[in-house]
Amino acid sequence: MERLQKVMAHAGVASRRKCEELIVNGKVYVNGICIRELGAKVSPNDKIEVNGVPLYKETLVYYLFHKPAGVISAVSDDKNRRVVVDYFPHVSERIYPVGRLDYDTTGLLLLTNDGELAQLLMHPKYHVDKTYVAKVKGIPNDKQIKQLRYGVKIDGKMTSPAKVTVLSTDYDKGTSRIELTIHEGWNHQVKKMLMGVGLPVMKLKRERFGFLTLENLAAGQWRALKKNEVSKLRQEALRK
Ligand code: URA
Repeated sequence: MERLQKVMAHAGVASRRKCEELIVNGKVYVNGICIRELGAKVSPNDKIEVNGVPLYKETLVYYLFHKPAGVISAVSDDKNRRVVVDYFPHVSERIYPVGRLDYDTTGLLLLTNDGELAQLLMHPKYHVDKTYVAKVKGIPNDKQIKQLRYGVKIDGKMTSPAKVTVLSTDYDKGTSRIELTIHEGWNHQVKKMLMGVGLPVMKLKRERFGFLTLENLAAGQWRALKKNEVSKLRQEALRK
């Protein structure tokens, strides 16, 4: 179930704000009943009409993108910086990123117009593993690794245990590369976890999202997901 204004916006009716106005002004009918509350939720089977016109349902599309650094994980930016959807100029569906990678983080980002799957993949109740490789300042010791494997307190809340592998260390430069797998998606979680144990992140890349990997996509490149990959993602989220 999704909020009516969100479904309308995704179907290309107008911005979410404008859709809210349409609802409040009594222009929207769900299964023949006029809906004026903004809290109303609808399922994919509900018949929605706006100004007497049935809502056109977009084909659902799914893309796997290798996000470069210096790009915002959003559909627009008030400061006119580059956003991820700028890499999809020919896609007419209203796609948006599933979760976020920081401006300076690179790696695997999914984009879709399937609100239900996006919600499923981002909901903390459902566990999809995300694997990151971080270049950090410092050489990790046993205590730091143990702490990451136990969980780290971030803003007063404990994270779940992370899977951790030290990939390499450079004693001359005093830096290391650490692979971290987590299933939550808190804001800046990986940077905060590593900082929390005294290993500030210099560079961060997401290598995997569930069973999906970047394969050989270069930064800025993308590919459409296959049908079976979409169902596998859904199953992966619901399994845990
Ligand atoms: N964790 C972070 O700190 N940054 C990201 O971009 C993703 C996960």
